[in-house]
This record gives sequence, C-alpha cells and structure tokens, in this order.
Amino acid sequence: MKLNELLGIEFPFIQGGMANIATGEFAAAVSNAGALGLIGAGGMSPEMFRENIHKCRSLTDKPFGVNIMLMHPQVDELAKIAAEEHVSVITTGAGSPGMYVSMWKESGAKVFPVVSAVSLAKMMAKAGVDGVIAEGTESGGHVGETTTMALVPQVCDAVDIPVIAAGGIASGRQLVAAYALGACGAQMGTCLLVSEECPIHENYKQALLKASDRSTVVTGRSVNAPVRVIKNQMTKDYIAHEKAGADRMELEKFTLGSLRRAVFEGDTRTGSLMAGQVAGMLHEIRPLRAIFEELQAQAQECLNGLSL
Ligand SMILES: Cc1cc2nc3c(=O)[nH]c(=O)nc-3n(C[C@H](O)[C@H](O)[C@H](O)COP(=O)(O)O)c2cc1C
Repeated sequence: MKLNELLGIEFPFIQGGMANIATGEFAAAVSNAGALGLIGAGGMSPEMFRENIHKCRSLTDKPFGVNIMLMHPQVDELAKIAAEEHVSVITTGAGSPGMYVSMWKESGAKVFPVVSAVSLAKMMAKAGVDGVIAEGTESGGHVGETTTMALVPQVCDAVDIPVIAAGGIASGRQLVAAYALGACGAQMGTCLLVSEECPIHENYKQALLKASDRSTVVTGRSVNAPVRVIKNQMTKDYIAHEKAGADRMELEKFTLGSLRRAVFEGDTRTGSLMAGQVAGMLHEIRPLRAIFEELQAQAQECLNGLSL
C-alpha cells in the first residue's frame, strides 16, 4: 500500500519534523498542500508543543503529525502530550521510542520511528509500530552512517511493515529510486526548506540556493553526535577542534543555540545551517504545492521513460 493511502493524504510524502522550523503553522501548510505535515517538537517546551498542535488543528482539517526528538530533556512530557492530544501520526528521531509505543497506539496514533540501521527497524517492528522511516546519511540534521541506497532495501528485507525512505530525495527520479528500493513513500526535509511557506530566515534559504553537491559536511562523528550541515565558519572551527581531539562538552560550545541563530537571525557564519546533500539540487523558492506537484509529475515521467 502506498503511503498516501495509508495516511489518507494526496501525495505519498511526509515533511520531516525539523526542530525550530516545523511549527504548527508550517505543518498545517504542508498538510493543506497535500502531504503530511509534522510539528517538530525538538526545540519546543511542552507548553509550546501543545500550543503548536492546537494552532495546526485550527489551520487545517487534513491529517498532520508530530515528531518527537527522543534526546529532548522533557521527552516524557512531550510523549504524553502527543497521546493526550490524539495526534494521528507520531514519528520519532534519535533513538528508540519503545517505551512510548503502547501509549501512543492506545491513543489512536500511527507510529513511524526514524531508523538509521536494520537492528533498530527490527526492534521497532517487534514493538508494534505501523512502519519505519529509513533515513540515510545523505539527509540533513542528525544522521546515521548508511546511505539511503544501501539502507532502504536492507530494512525492507528485514521487516514486513511499511518502509518510508528519507535522505537524498528532492526530485521525481529519487522518488522512483526509493520505490524501486521497496519504500512506499518518502520523507523529505531539505527540499522543503526552500518553500515559500518555510519560516526559516531568508539568508538560510539563500545559502541553500547557493549550495552545490559538496557543500555539506557532517560534524560530530567523533563524539557520536553526527549532524549534517552546510559548511561555514562554524563547521570549520568545529572540525578543527574535533581533529585536535576536543571532547563533546568543548564541541558543544560551537553548536549551542546555533540552529536557532541560523533559523531566526539568519546567521550563516556561526549558525547551524542543517541541510542534506540534495541542497545542490535546489534552485528556486516555490510554494509547497508546486514542489509536491512537480515531484509527482517528475516521478511519473521518469517511470514512463525507464527501460530495462
Ligand atoms: C533543518 C533540518 C532539521 C531537522 N530536524 C529534525 C528533527 O528535529 N527530528 C527528526 O526526526 N529529523 C530531523 N531532520 C531530518 C528530517 O526529518 C528528514 O528525515 C530529512 O531531512 C530527510 O532527508 P533530506 O534532508 O535529504 O530531505 C531535520 C532535517 C533538516 C534538514
């Protein structure tokens, strides 16, 4: 079954939950444009999270979901709010949400954890989730080690629940590739950052438009906190200190508040411009609906042109 049928939406796309970016307003705009919008709870207090759910509900009557970052210091409260508010879809990032799955399922939610390895996908399938989002290392933000091309088919072979591909998808060709690997749909983050509706600072959008295929880098692998961002002064300083053997505490000096600096202040020098490797494919700022329609049309065109 395709993701759109599973979720009752028009296009088989999920907008990745993006901390400090994916507000209730943005998620509603995505859902109104025909995909599944997610409110990114990372960076929100429990009160803000509940307000954003209410805001989203006031702006759309379409399905929407939330993304819970499991390393959030108040994750238990956020998890409870998602259940109390009977949110229809819950995705998670950065770890195993095993302890929350039964509470969320009882609240009526469909649960889709993000996984970057086969072992976690298997564990999640056993825990009774509705599907997994297999996210390759090409993606923006927190990343694993394995590429989408290698991860998605291995996850598909290992579990018998729906698999959604994420990481490196910004065109119809990549969408068709994800289907060919066994996925039922796609989650995207980077290509939606350059939508008209995305609330990031204009400087951040311009940095994305200027990016090429080699503009991103992963910081923090040495301290087990790998994050893909656009190269800038912050990543240069971070990586120099990382190479010199700095520990996690020292390195956090560079990243503390850095995503907020990029998103709200447009600080492209010391801010964290989280973005995936597809940043080099982004050439214009367009409405969400136009992005989704083009992806779908390109995928159809690509399928028609394939000969084996
Ligand atoms: C700016 C940015 C912030 C992100 N923040 C989160 C987050 O808070 N939680 C999460 O699960 N994933 C997060 N991600 C990953 C996305 O949800 C999505 O899986 C990813 O962007 C897909 O790959 P792509 O960037 O190649 O489209 C983030 C991605 C970006 C680009």
